[in-house]
Amino acid sequence: MPVYKSTARKEGIMRKYNKISQPILKEIKQIVGEKNVLFDQPDKMAAYSHDEVADPAYAHMPEVVIKPSSADEISEIMKIANKYKIPVTPRGAGSGLSGGAVPAYGGVVLSFEKMNRILEVDKDNLVVVVEPGVVTNEINNLVKDDGLFYAGYPMSVETCFIGGNIAENAGGGKAIKYGVTSRYVLGMEVVLPTGEIVQLGGKLSKDVVGYDLIHLMTGSEGTLGIFTKIILKLLPLPVNKIDLLVLFPDAMTAMKNVILIMRNGRVIPTAIEFMDQLSVQTTCKYLNEELPYQKAGAMLLIEVDGSSEEQVEREYETIGKLCEENGALEVYVALNYTTQERVWAVRRNIAEAFKVYSPIQSLEDIVVPFANIPDILPYLEKLSQKYPVIIPCYGHAGDGNLHVTLVKKPECPIEQWSSVEHDVLVELYKITKKLGGTISGEHGIGSKRRGFLSLVMDDEIINLQRRIKKVFDPNDILNPGKIFPENIAAGKT
Ligand code: LAC
Ligand code: ZN
Repeated sequence: MPVYKSTARKEGIMRKYNKISQPILKEIKQIVGEKNVLFDQPDKMAAYSHDEVADPAYAHMPEVVIKPSSADEISEIMKIANKYKIPVTPRGAGSGLSGGAVPAYGGVVLSFEKMNRILEVDKDNLVVVVEPGVVTNEINNLVKDDGLFYAGYPMSVETCFIGGNIAENAGGGKAIKYGVTSRYVLGMEVVLPTGEIVQLGGKLSKDVVGYDLIHLMTGSEGTLGIFTKIILKLLPLPVNKIDLLVLFPDAMTAMKNVILIMRNGRVIPTAIEFMDQLSVQTTCKYLNEELPYQKAGAMLLIEVDGSSEEQVEREYETIGKLCEENGALEVYVALNYTTQERVWAVRRNIAEAFKVYSPIQSLEDIVVPFANIPDILPYLEKLSQKYPVIIPCYGHAGDGNLHVTLVKKPECPIEQWSSVEHDVLVELYKITKKLGGTISGEHGIGSKRRGFLSLVMDDEIINLQRRIKKVFDPNDILNPGKIFPENIAAGKT
């Protein structure tokens, strides 16, 4: 059987990149200033060697961390990197979950922490212009008093950077109604891997001139260009919002209700999030919070928003009634902001809670057409019987996007975990494909899933994308070791 697991370090031997010598370091310091360069300081640089993937095997130390302040500086850095064949990995807040911001081959990490300005709020055109290092939630904090909002809502909204959201085309908790990040990206300034600075799009709601490079860049996982300015579409802030916490006896009943709501509710909910009992229990412990999880095998967190109290009330009552008639144990209504935030905090912190309590794990991100979600559940049960894994599950049920988490059972010896994890992933991904799905709905392929790409994507399409990459980045210096397996023909990394 082919081995799909990615091992960037092994491949490193095969690649021809140069190390950062003292003269190169001097050139870098001349561009960005000495204080914006970390070199030879492992204690400070370690934070840039990993993202939020729990497995330390995916971490890799950079040789240098650079904190640029402008597109011009980045352009100069890229010219040097091409000249000396040095890999460069752009990095937002490091909240990613596929190793996308990890410098798999060392070299330079470009950290955007200093490029964190909101450059313009154009209220009349409903757009905001930002630098990539702005924390996503800050956009909303700034525009809410003007009755506006940015509709992207990754679960890490309080910490992630908008540049990273765009690199990963982040999804999150409001995608049913509002779609994913790409819907809101109208324009961008990009430093190409070869150093040119280009402007794509603008404050335009419509633009069909040439290929849609904005949406090629969005979701390119930091491999095609470095965003230095982003123009985002804003929406009118909904006036009213309600959350329902609906308790079910088991996951299957909860998932069947997702389909009923989507098909029969005649409502577009903002969110339908699923949490199984272990996910809620673990996170309540982590946050020292109390939700009524003891009563339920699974829960749905359902949000509706709108422009009037009556509309929102009508919609949540419809949904609540549907659930009550179809097996819900209890429907709780969170009317005010404080209660809503308490419930959402539990949902947002599940990944972090498992990382703390069950660090030997693999957090997955499969996606299927949402009506096929109930078909996944029996397979998860079978996998947890066949292998020494516990498989808690939560996620964006209304999008068919589930965070299946493989957690090592205590009886599985640590030396065996890697092969157990690999085998479970191969089975899980094959089932997902069979149900019309794919291996990542929002976290991306990065280094974590690149070895599995050919399970769900034909060689022709992978090779076509490689050719695109080559056009943008002939020396393969921008974020190498990501997305594509090293050797497709052999079906190996
Ligand atoms: C979430 C992250 C893991 O949905 O995507 O919590
Ligand atoms: Zn998610």
